[in-house]
Amino acid sequence: MDKILQATADAAWILGEEGHDPLRESSHESRFAISNGFLGVRGARAATGGCRWAIPARTYVAGLFDTSTADGAIPELVPGADWLRVRILLDGKPLVDDPGDLSSHRMTLDMRRGVLLTECLQMNTPAVGVRLRTLRLVSLSERSLGLQLIQLDVEHGEVAVSLEASFEGMNLGLVAERVGQDLGVWRTPHSRKGLAMAAAPSLQVDGDEVPATALGELRWSWTWRSRPGQVACFARSVAVTRSDAPDLDPAADARDKLGAAQRLGWRGVVADHEAAWASRWRCSDVEVEGDPVAQQALRFAAYHLNSAANPADERVSIGARALTGDDYRGHVFWDTEIFLLPFYALTWPEAARALLVYRFHTLDAARAKAARMGWRGALYAWESADTGDEATPEQVIGPDRRVVDVLSGRLEQHISADVAYAVWQYWQATGDETFLLDFGAEILLETARFWASRARVEADGRHHIRGVIGPDEYHEDIDDNAFTNLMARWNIARGLEVVTLMGERWAGRWTQLSSRLGLEDVELKQWRAVADTISTGIDSSTGLIEQFAGYFALEEIDLADYAGRSVPMDVVLGRARTRQSQVIKQADVVALLALLPDEFIGDTAAENFHYYEPRCGHGSSLSRAMHGLVAARLGEPALALRYFHETAAIDLAETHAAIAGGVHIAALGGLWQMAVLGFAGLSIGADGVAIDPKLPASWRSLAFSVQWHGRQLRLRIAQAEQSLEATLEAGEPMTLVVCGTSYALDRDGALHISLREPQNAAA
Ligand code: BGC
Repeated sequence: MDKILQATADAAWILGEEGHDPLRESSHESRFAISNGFLGVRGARAATGGCRWAIPARTYVAGLFDTSTADGAIPELVPGADWLRVRILLDGKPLVDDPGDLSSHRMTLDMRRGVLLTECLQMNTPAVGVRLRTLRLVSLSERSLGLQLIQLDVEHGEVAVSLEASFEGMNLGLVAERVGQDLGVWRTPHSRKGLAMAAAPSLQVDGDEVPATALGELRWSWTWRSRPGQVACFARSVAVTRSDAPDLDPAADARDKLGAAQRLGWRGVVADHEAAWASRWRCSDVEVEGDPVAQQALRFAAYHLNSAANPADERVSIGARALTGDDYRGHVFWDTEIFLLPFYALTWPEAARALLVYRFHTLDAARAKAARMGWRGALYAWESADTGDEATPEQVIGPDRRVVDVLSGRLEQHISADVAYAVWQYWQATGDETFLLDFGAEILLETARFWASRARVEADGRHHIRGVIGPDEYHEDIDDNAFTNLMARWNIARGLEVVTLMGERWAGRWTQLSSRLGLEDVELKQWRAVADTISTGIDSSTGLIEQFAGYFALEEIDLADYAGRSVPMDVVLGRARTRQSQVIKQADVVALLALLPDEFIGDTAAENFHYYEPRCGHGSSLSRAMHGLVAARLGEPALALRYFHETAAIDLAETHAAIAGGVHIAALGGLWQMAVLGFAGLSIGADGVAIDPKLPASWRSLAFSVQWHGRQLRLRIAQAEQSLEATLEAGEPMTLVVCGTSYALDRDGALHISLREPQNAAA
């Protein structure tokens, strides 16, 4: 076991924590979480207080939602049992009474291998001294599997040792259907989803198997006598399965999965898991020279992004805290489509596809929401769980501890355009025709239809969208939010584009789809009219975009006066004054610049960015990444780098204690976007990939991989040499546009391009 319990030597792949800090414990649990998109386990310490150690590691199961029957109840992700519990007694005394008593404790997240390792020494009892090392993983190659390994090295002492392994918290939000020695089956009380957990623990002392005493209900114990130099190895495999219908029993599947794992042996499970991680890293690692903090942040981001998705499950998507914590109850927001999807579309298209097919499966719920509110087409839930029904709570406790009404579930409608945007990005990145024809086109058309029915023509001859919330949630129930209107226009334009595309290339499919949706020419004509005349908020004399009707007239507040604050601006000013002010919660017009860069030509983007940037209070973890992305594209790498580091600090700085509820997966997606779409200046289209790098001065080089239309490319930008190395690692020859000049890229070797001066086109 020794080697397996050792972390990767290269510090750039490691996140470590020493000692015991109760104040930051729950934040560390989020940061050190392990996940595979189906199972997520918080990074609880292996040695904690009380008479137990290895507690309590909350385990999440993607898609295991339940909604109580209470008034106003919303779906919540229900945690599964903690399968990692172990209790060790030395001569009848718990190994750890108080975590502070341990001689040492170290926790290491080995991001390269996707495992959490811990090591602690207990030398302060005279009778016995032991070193404990543990590993836990949830397998990336077989997502039902979890594995726990523990090695107990006896340094000195001859005492009676007993080790008890159990599952705890088995009935938290779940009803036990049957719990036996090696298998438990539970149901969510209302949605009647099934959860099965099967386990196989074993213990060897100095290489000899010690038989377990079966204590019933997923509980076992072993006893033996220690002696100096003795090595005891405990291994526990678990298989976890979910079933979505009340009449389906998940048990047989869990047993089969566990059986396969046992045949493979835990070494095989570890090896397959590590191979799966190695393959993810080959596709998604971003390397930065010259800025170790940025390097670690990008690894951490890719680690959690790779952990969050599951290409094999099209019935789930990624919640705002992925599977790392309770905040937002596992609900899915625009975070997934806007902040995460670019990473997946360009490094893991299968995962991106599954996330979008989830939106296809929830299209009926989106149609029903639109119809209920009096519109046509599809209005997606602002917060979505398993069915796609609106899951936004109607009230929450605000940051000032008061109960506030939440209007986003009704008014934050840009989500429909965000989903359409992601569908289009995926289509551009992959050219996946089956996806477009089976799923994507219908999403694009139904969301376009929603906007065309949502916008109303008024006396000025223009179409308006009244009564919405944009990304800036400080201003509610506003009219003509530029982000919403321009994204709606873009959505309608893509809807019309897909009509043309299907008519030209797949006429039969178009006839079927259009007749199923009842889409006729007269309706498409109305879409065009809406797109042509929708109010944009753009002042043609200044190029400034008004965030929403009336925004320019609101009170100007100099945010520099509040620079040292530790609470969001809506708490400082109060909700009423914030609403009457120009202070915005997060990138709104700036988000528009980030998403539709081609629509803002000349100086328009820079002018709008510099107008809105000082007005933004960054009251959401999503905000800074958008600013960083736009600043990087505008050629302001120093400013962009500041946003990059501030975004990295959200989940990584010890000063931020607010990540107890889980990592901010959207901000992590934003880090990747700032590096790849921002500093490297990568953009994709149906015809190829373009790159226009502007690295921060401290970054000596930036290297990363992307996939495009079945090809795999590795790109490396070197700052001092002002050069780009592009390698086509897999797939057919393609065109790469570098700073406006096209190059032919094939498998004959790397292309070296100087970024110093205009190039002669080689293609
Ligand atoms: C932000 C939303 C975001 C949500 C979940 C809110 O605070 O304003 O834009 O979708 O958090 O991350």
